[in-house]
Amino acid sequence: MRSLTALQALRDVAHIKKGQKVLIHGASGGIGHFAVQFARYFKTDVTAVCSTSNLSWVKKLGADRVIDYTKEDFTGNGEKYDLILDAVGYLTYFKSKPSLNSTGIFITENPLKKRFLLTQMLISMVTGDKRIKMHLANPNDKDMNLFRQLAEEGKLKPVIEKNLSPESNSSGTPPC
Ligand SMILES: NC(=O)c1ccc[n+]([C@@H]2O[C@H](COP(=O)([O-])OP(=O)(O)OC[C@H]3O[C@@H](n4cnc5c(N)ncnc54)[C@H](OP(=O)(O)O)[C@@H]3O)[C@@H](O)[C@H]2O)c1
Repeated sequence: MRSLTALQALRDVAHIKKGQKVLIHGASGGIGHFAVQFARYFKTDVTAVCSTSNLSWVKKLGADRVIDYTKEDFTGNGEKYDLILDAVGYLTYFKSKPSLNSTGIFITENPLKKRFLLTQMLISMVTGDKRIKMHLANPNDKDMNLFRQLAEEGKLKPVIEKNLSPESNSSGTPPC
């Protein structure tokens, strides 16, 4: 399900295109780690934001660069992106806006902040700025089959954070 959320946000909402500069906020999360891989699959330039302990394996997923949010606020570094996907829910469009280029769009995945988001969308509509998007996943067989195919071809790697079965003594270290 998290994989479909990432795929649909990038492909169907953002209309992601080869060569674009994409930032994934929450790149070590369930949605974010798939978003990094899909962004890579669509041949974009990927910047991944996550915490210190996750930087290394997220880079191995295919991110061109990683930013440690505990040390750097990406909204202040002067870089501009065509697309920012917030797979955390802490970001707002207005906070991200300085990091978007003139046609760049912002997508958030957090449905819990819907009311807050609707306020932002209303303001952006009133001001004529339509670059903020909200996304809710739409589970369907076609996308599940695409996901299965890409996983079988080794183009997508689901990361298992923890094995909660009683037999397991897993430390939860990501497998890549
Ligand atoms: N739109 C939809 O259809 C849909 C579907 C499912 C879920 N969601 C929503 O999408 C969001 C993400 O879900 P998920 O399952 O991917 O969550 P998750 O696995 O818990 O991942 C959360 C991510 O947030 C990062 N993070 C935590 N604190 C942060 C901070 N202060 N600054 C930047 N990043 C921070 C974590 O990074 P570190 O671990 O490196 O700290 C991690 O990468 C949730 O709000 C969930 O409700 C939406």
